[in-house]
Amino acid sequence: MNSAIIKGTGYYVPENIVTNDDLSKLMDTNDEWIIERTGIKERRWINNDESTSSMALEASKKAIKDAGIDKHDIDFIVFATLSPDYYFPGPGVTLQKELGLNTIGALDVRNQCSGFIYALSVADQYIKTGMYNNILVVGSEYHSGGLDKTTRGRGVTVIFGDGAGAAIVSKSPNNDRGILSTHLHSQGEHAEELTLIGPSTRRWVPEIFDGKGKDDEAIYPYMNGTFVFKHAVTRFPEVINEALTKNKLQSTDIDLLIPHQANLRISQFVQKKMGLSENQVFSNIQKYGNTTAASIPIALAEAKLEGKVKKGDLICLAAFGSGFTWASALIRW
Ligand code: UT7
Repeated sequence: MNSAIIKGTGYYVPENIVTNDDLSKLMDTNDEWIIERTGIKERRWINNDESTSSMALEASKKAIKDAGIDKHDIDFIVFATLSPDYYFPGPGVTLQKELGLNTIGALDVRNQCSGFIYALSVADQYIKTGMYNNILVVGSEYHSGGLDKTTRGRGVTVIFGDGAGAAIVSKSPNNDRGILSTHLHSQGEHAEELTLIGPSTRRWVPEIFDGKGKDDEAIYPYMNGTFVFKHAVTRFPEVINEALTKNKLQSTDIDLLIPHQANLRISQFVQKKMGLSENQVFSNIQKYGNTTAASIPIALAEAKLEGKVKKGDLICLAAFGSGFTWASALIRW
């Protein structure tokens, strides 16, 4: 069987930096609270005509360059996001058009914070079965346009940032390298603990706006923060251990854990629970906040640029979030 390697990575974040002090001018919050509870110092928020697909385009171009392939060598796109340009169609097709690719397939993945690992698992299977040779896997999120920027929304709004990350997943004849396994989970009973209800087929536009156009909270993301936190700190170690056990490896074998950047406190908890050192766990939430499906590919691309991902290293990706969904991937780089 073929092996699927990550041949190239790239990321893009908007130029506009929004600090915690900037947020405190919009709502009742402060730098100290945000840093203490989340580790976030600043995030990027789009302030021009950029979009989920335009950020994905920039990240993809970098990943294609990094992989050293021609864009026409790509034979499939998998695009993970919870903030698509349109309700439908998903942004995979827009990316296909903007990259100027032939009429290859484009699949949209709706798994929020776990979206990139779910997308990676799809790519992994298509490569391993021989269906495709080079797959563009993207995670991109434009949160800032849809957040409640008043004190009412502060528990959610201070956390999220915009950005995109991409990876080229390619066939390799070398079976000692590549994606070793992926592990996917869901628990839909908690779907409404972290959700954006409307507009949707359950709550159409007229229902969530009164006659004067006044909004109700359903148009903004809702998160039961402490509930999500408690589940996250259990599921992260569980799904990382599942991947290690499957591959007869131990946590001491991990060279770098790249967790979904949800909250620095969650990452620190996981680090301790897994017996890892601070250097073995990658964090960039300080700069970008939580970019949902984009957070792992942005972190992976940055870690690579910083020389923290080297040939032969054992890299573990792990995520937990809305759905609930959670996932892990082990990669021999
Ligand atoms: O990526 C998807 C998965 N998401 C996650 O994994 C997020 C998981 N949850 C979390 O990261 C944390 O629960 C939060 C960072 C969202 C919140 O931290 P917390 O320590 O759980 O705070 P809390 O929600 O319990 O709120 C504590 C207090 C409350 O005030 P009272 O009721 O104690 O007076 C909040 O009203 O902090 C208040 N608060 C704020 N204060 C200043 C909530 N948000 C803010 C804010 N600034 N932005």
